[in-house]
Amino acid sequence: MGGDVERVGVVGGGRMGAGIAEVCARAGRDTVVVEADAVAARAARERVTASLDRAVARGRLEAADAARALDRLVFTGDLDALAGRQLVIEAVVERPDVKTEVFAALDKVVEDPEAVLATNTSSLPVMRLGRATGRADRVVGLHFFNPVPVLPLVEVVTSLHTSARTARIAEGFVTGALGKTVIRSRDRAGFVVNSLLVPYLLAAVRMAESGFATAEDIDTGMELGCAHPMGPLRLADLIGLDTVASIAESLYDEFREPLYAPPPLLSRMVEAGLLGRKTGRGFHTYDAHTTG
Ligand code: NAI
Repeated sequence: MGGDVERVGVVGGGRMGAGIAEVCARAGRDTVVVEADAVAARAARERVTASLDRAVARGRLEAADAARALDRLVFTGDLDALAGRQLVIEAVVERPDVKTEVFAALDKVVEDPEAVLATNTSSLPVMRLGRATGRADRVVGLHFFNPVPVLPLVEVVTSLHTSARTARIAEGFVTGALGKTVIRSRDRAGFVVNSLLVPYLLAAVRMAESGFATAEDIDTGMELGCAHPMGPLRLADLIGLDTVASIAESLYDEFREPLYAPPPLLSRMVEAGLLGRKTGRGFHTYDAHTTG
């Protein structure tokens, strides 16, 4: 199942979209990436090319396979290029207005009424994006993890409207074609992984905020005491403190549980522009070599 999805589209070629497009092309699928305009489409191509080059340099991919993957990819600013796709995965910015517009447009552009329309959203209800189309039963969440070529997990999120057939095709593609592992989640903010991870990260922020322990000791505690590859504050810095805060806000909006409420220190750091690795400073400081 899913083996018969040969023509894939990806909307948005940023961090996640480029990774998703790369794994689809590496799996032998003809893949069209639609960005906001031609300039952004060129940037998306560069992102995928750089990632393929890295995989080759690290010995994870043959140079010939990288070249073949690139040949299967088309980058464009024109959404109409998705007309003949069997599966489209949306990975544009996490803004409800932009995503709703994209789904309404996909409904008009994608010709095959059986095509599956997926979203990589981290926090928006899949149901709401489905309702922007006239085919909510064919809309499903496929939540990949960053970096997509490396992390093997995808959460498959079914809304109250998603049909069993749609979920089957989406799951079949992710496991069969992409070789990833799937877990299933209902359409609730945070899905499985972020619902468990974010309260833990927030607890670490509260611990640092109260002066209970230093950031360094909190991280060392979880790395050496629990064999986590990265402590919670280092992980929050890697994800981006703005992203952590916005996922926490959507969890809090949904459940109204204090454990999801962003602590004042986190909100203040976001306002101050201390977003973690990408700005060089969060709970830890990073030099130019480790940012990016
Ligand atoms: P990003 O900001 O790196 O990429 C978003 C891309 O969408 C940009 O390249 C932008 O030019 C493009 N875009 C904006 N409007 C567009 C439009 N109308 N048509 C086509 N392209 C458009 O963001 P990122 O991190 O890749 O996130 C994308 C989605 O993936 C979001 O929904 C986010 O919540 C989700 N996500 C992010 C994860 C992460 O770790 N960054 C993990 C899992 C999901």
